[in-house]
Amino acid sequence: AGSAPAAGLLAGRRVTVTAGGTREPLDPVRFLGNRSSGKQGAAIAAAALAEGAQVRFIAAHLEVPPPQGVDLVQVETALELRDAVHEAAKSTDVLVMSAAVADFRPGENADTKIKKRDDGADPVITLVRNPDILAETVQNRSAFGSGPSLIVGFAAETGDDSGSVLEYGRRKLERKGCDLLVLNQVGRALVFGQDSTEVRILSPKDDPAAEPPALTGSKAEIARHLVQRIAAELAGSPA
Ligand code: CTP
Ligand code: CA
Repeated sequence: AGSAPAAGLLAGRRVTVTAGGTREPLDPVRFLGNRSSGKQGAAIAAAALAEGAQVRFIAAHLEVPPPQGVDLVQVETALELRDAVHEAAKSTDVLVMSAAVADFRPGENADTKIKKRDDGADPVITLVRNPDILAETVQNRSAFGSGPSLIVGFAAETGDDSGSVLEYGRRKLERKGCDLLVLNQVGRALVFGQDSTEVRILSPKDDPAAEPPALTGSKAEIARHLVQRIAAELAGSPA
């Protein structure tokens, strides 16, 4: 209030970024987690801020500090992340789903610490599916009133005998229905926690016969590139 309007490619835009890895509790002291560092999401939030956006940063477990200047919402589990995304989706122009959301959570979250049993029986953990937050946000986007007009998903793929990294990425883009998909090639020792990465940005508007260019750089460079692409995609719609 009272300050000059922000300058930059995303001036006047509201951007929501999810980042980090969800933690799914087994009992009060244990959880199932993943190796996401949250670095890429934090870099995207910082790049969007630098371009004048108002940024809500929905943070699951991070190994880096959240950028200064964001509207920070901290969450633990996939279900909490979902609630925070639904809330943000009512009033955001852009949603960037860089969080590593656990596909499954333990079916039971014990109220008290799970103890070793005297009879020697080993515990069995039953898992249940978490909702696909990205896909459901795309499906419900009209129900969220004004936004988000642009939804960006992420995919980390290794490729295997039944498909290349790019084929898996394209299938995921179609399945999720998002507007852009940032595709990462991963393997042992690649990407997780690394500072440099290679990505391709896929869009449903791509020519299927052409291979989208690979972008290599630090997570900050990739983030700046993605933010420029987001701004270009939004350029047609009023701020
Ligand atoms: N995602 C989500 N909700 C989930 C799982 C994933 O919103 N329950 C989002 C991620 O934040 C990411 C995108 O979906 O933007 C792709 O995540 P990924 O794990 O690659 O996709 P999955 O559909 O879970 O497919 P896979 O079986 O390959 O893990
Ligand atoms: Ca997954």
